[in-house]
Amino acid sequence: MFTPIAVRVAATLHIADHIAGGAHTRAELARRTGAEEGALGRLLRFLACRDVFSEDEPGVYGLTDTSRLLLDTHPSRMRHWLDLEGASGRIDLAACGGLLHAVRTGEPGYESVFGTPFWDDLAAHPELTDSFNAQMAAVQGRLAPEVAAAHPWHEAGTIADIGGGTGALLEAVLGTAPDARGVLVDLPGTVEGGGERFAAAGLGDRTEIVGRSFFDPLPAGSDICLLSQILHDWDDKESVAVLARCAESLAPGGRVVVVERVIAEDEGRRLNTEYDLRMLVFNKGRERTVEEFTALAAQAGLRPAGTTRLPSHHWLLFWERA
Ligand SMILES: C[S@@+](CC[C@H](N)C(=O)[O-])C[C@H]1O[C@@H](n2cnc3c(N)ncnc32)[C@H](O)[C@@H]1O
Repeated sequence: MFTPIAVRVAATLHIADHIAGGAHTRAELARRTGAEEGALGRLLRFLACRDVFSEDEPGVYGLTDTSRLLLDTHPSRMRHWLDLEGASGRIDLAACGGLLHAVRTGEPGYESVFGTPFWDDLAAHPELTDSFNAQMAAVQGRLAPEVAAAHPWHEAGTIADIGGGTGALLEAVLGTAPDARGVLVDLPGTVEGGGERFAAAGLGDRTEIVGRSFFDPLPAGSDICLLSQILHDWDDKESVAVLARCAESLAPGGRVVVVERVIAEDEGRRLNTEYDLRMLVFNKGRERTVEEFTALAAQAGLRPAGTTRLPSHHWLLFWERA
């Protein structure tokens, strides 16, 4: 029962990085992490008994294959996912402390644990926004090449990425569409990260950055409104509201393109149920089937215009104005 939280505490304290940096003894690790030595020693011994660290002699610790995953620079970004002081670690804490509340009430567990909705918490704590954006950019970094390759984006004149974070996906898509303009829309504290990215990619002169809520009117005239991993954050009513904002902003003949994990059966197994619970707990969101997405789109005045399944569990769903 204690292993998941103990690993998260070690990740938060950067124990693997300190060991890799030459701190092997309990005393030195306590000094570097600012932890109480006796309590830290008990944590390390517990984790050594589970092969997360090695205890080479009493009170002297080393890395194992498992704890190498916790190095800050490991490509999996595992340490960042588990860091209890980062955005995704707080979602995990909300899951532990708030799932019962969420199941009993249907309301987000995050608010019951932290006293404030997830997005308001991020807005009040810039370091949490930074941590969330960095995680999302890393996810986008893996997903973006698939999305960029899956559609003839060059046929569009203007592509707006709505809730596009710091712009990693839009950068990849614009890379396949040299004549297209890009519009990045997200909350003000997030979207500003896009400027630097686009300048570095040489896209500064064909991109526009708009710090605005997607529940408000969106920049008009886009040929494509891209919504990547947005709808699963929200319940049906709010999802329809975002889709309606996208639909009304489209140029004639324009399309909404949704990128989402889709609930589907794979060899008899239902996929994405863990993410579904995660979405429930953090913001009352949900994962959906294609039919459920299509029903939301219809309420926003959109009709299906095709689907593409990506090699990952994500799909592209295309909708046009009905
Ligand atoms: C799950 S992330 C997805 C980011 C990006 N589209 C991707 O695929 O990685 C959700 C995004 O929605 C943004 N967001 C949340 N509430 C918003 C609002 N009311 N208006 C605009 N963006 C919002 C967040 O800042 C975040 O960038």
